[in-house]
Amino acid sequence: MWRDLLLSFSTPVSGGGHRWVVWSRKTPAELSFASVFSGRQSRKSTSRTEKTMADGEEYRNPTEVQMSQLVLPCHTNQRGELSVGQLLKWIDTTACLSAERHAGCPCVTASMDDIYFEHTIRVGQVVNIKAKVNRAFNTSMEVGIQVASEDTCSEKQWNVCKALATFVAHRELSKVKLKQISPRTEEEKTEHSVAAERRRMRLVYADTIKDLLANCAMQYDLESRDCSHVVPAEKTRVESVELVLPPHANHQGNTFGGQIMAWMENVATIAASRLCRAHPTLKAIEMFHFRGPSQVGDRLVLKAIVNNAFKHSMEVGVCVEAYRQEAEAHRRHINSAFMTFVVLDPNDQPQMLPWIRPQPGDGERRYREASARRKIRLDRKYIVSCKQEEMPLSVPWDPSNQVYLSYNNISSLKMLAAKDNWALSSEINQVGLYTLEDDKYLSFHMEMLVNVDAAHAFLLLSDLRRRPEWDKHYRNVELVQQVDEDDAIYHVISPILGTDPKPQDFVILASRRKPCDHGDPYVIALRSVTLPTHPETPEYRRGETLCSGFCVWREGDQMTKDFPFRCPCRIQPTLQTTPYLQAA
Ligand code: COA
Ligand code: ADP
Repeated sequence: MWRDLLLSFSTPVSGGGHRWVVWSRKTPAELSFASVFSGRQSRKSTSRTEKTMADGEEYRNPTEVQMSQLVLPCHTNQRGELSVGQLLKWIDTTACLSAERHAGCPCVTASMDDIYFEHTIRVGQVVNIKAKVNRAFNTSMEVGIQVASEDTCSEKQWNVCKALATFVAHRELSKVKLKQISPRTEEEKTEHSVAAERRRMRLVYADTIKDLLANCAMQYDLESRDCSHVVPAEKTRVESVELVLPPHANHQGNTFGGQIMAWMENVATIAASRLCRAHPTLKAIEMFHFRGPSQVGDRLVLKAIVNNAFKHSMEVGVCVEAYRQEAEAHRRHINSAFMTFVVLDPNDQPQMLPWIRPQPGDGERRYREASARRKIRLDRKYIVSCKQEEMPLSVPWDPSNQVYLSYNNISSLKMLAAKDNWALSSEINQVGLYTLEDDKYLSFHMEMLVNVDAAHAFLLLSDLRRRPEWDKHYRNVELVQQVDEDDAIYHVISPILGTDPKPQDFVILASRRKPCDHGDPYVIALRSVTLPTHPETPEYRRGETLCSGFCVWREGDQMTKDFPFRCPCRIQPTLQTTPYLQAA
């Protein structure tokens, strides 16, 4: 049944040129195709003008909240720069107001994703913070925050950081079901689509890190270091208490997330200063997860220590416990975070740091885990935040980057699919071919409606071993590794094409996702990876794909009425390549 079902896509070839092939297809008798283009075209035509409302006013996201603050001496640290703690308070407040605008009720911070600070902000400059809700899930929502600084004298502006926070809506101590967000602009659609993937990562974050730490080869290399500059970790230990007062809390008496983060940054900076005997600069914060609330009257005990010092950066860990005065023995662990500091010289170059000697026991464990976290962080930063044009086509696969490669695989395809400027190039037998051209890439997608259940199509399309049954560009497919339920690595061999003397082979990571919500597509994303077990061989020409795959939408609500055979789904195979094409 699936033979000849779809227009087939070959994958782009690395090296001297790229090939893209579309086969003409025979319409299988058992499949009826209906027109699917009207909806998509209207999406495109509205999207071009959607920034401008009917009355000519600029479109503004209804959940958007802006805050501008002039940085005064009272907001700065010992270096005369805006303290990150103060910035975190402003970020959390802006994001919370945006969340509450959508929810219509009080919201609490559940988490704040990793933040990388690109610029410091000086006294006299203005900080501009913009927050909007990217997506509402059930009781939680993701808020995207952008922070920029502005020098009003020179009119210069800088991006300082981006942040993503999750808020949970609460009314009278119970969680509130949220209404959905309807994204309108391309940027809103992209964020809405990728937010589901980010949420998936967030909810398994703690387990992911635990697994990665357990599997990471950790080095304990103190013996090989120059021990003349070693600082005992114990010398950096900080313990500090804070009493939660009404100004630190919202009107329900819950401590503001931003206030807790600011206190955490304060003790972390003290620990870092004790190692370097200078004024350190905070470069990155790993995810904050607010495990439980604290209220006015609670005492918060904050503890920090330098876990490890590398050549130019150090990791400081902080943990926060809360207790009521009448029950001091009953402490609740409410937050832990890891922060990366550097010490900058007058030219803003990072200085060498002394080594740290950990305490036996927990200290040694944290020392090793900090090394592993650094590797994970660098891999993750490279994969997750790397702009697609800076990514090599194939990325080495290993267990320490699997979660992030899978995220990157799915989100790249979702971002490509959400683009606004796809142009309909041709329409044959009610199958539309769309193209999208930008500086470096030429992308294609097709749209067709097939009378097959979406879940069924998803299962078949996501098993690449079935693909030779319907795609003549796949001669042989071997499952190399079933990484987890949703990710698998395949070795694909394609037949000799055109004048090419050799067949091609590909090592492909296939990642798949079921819809997170009504209206989401099933997604199957494919990208090349390199594996030591499958090096390039003289027998084949190694092909590579950066981003390709399928999005499958359920059409209407016929699913429930006519399951399994009369519930059409809309299939969108997509491929991105560089614009050196030869039609075969
Ligand atoms: N990151 C992001 N979202 C998370 C999360 C995390 N680490 N953990 C849970 N959530 C989300 C869940 O996905 C769920 O959202 P959904 O309904 O849209 O699917 C929602 O939070 C509730 O999850 P649940 O499993 O019911 O968790 P819970 O009962 O532990 O409540 C909090 C979660 C955040 C409300 C709770 O832990 C809490 O009160 N934390 C302290 C909040 C706080 O004081 N913040 C700082 C001051 S405002
Ligand atoms: P873990 O010990 O697994 O790192 P915790 O949540 O217990 O996780 O602590 C987070 C971080 O807080 C630790 O890595 C450490 O840097 C810091 N920390 C924890 N306990 C103390 C303490 N008693 N004194 C100083 N710092 C501490």
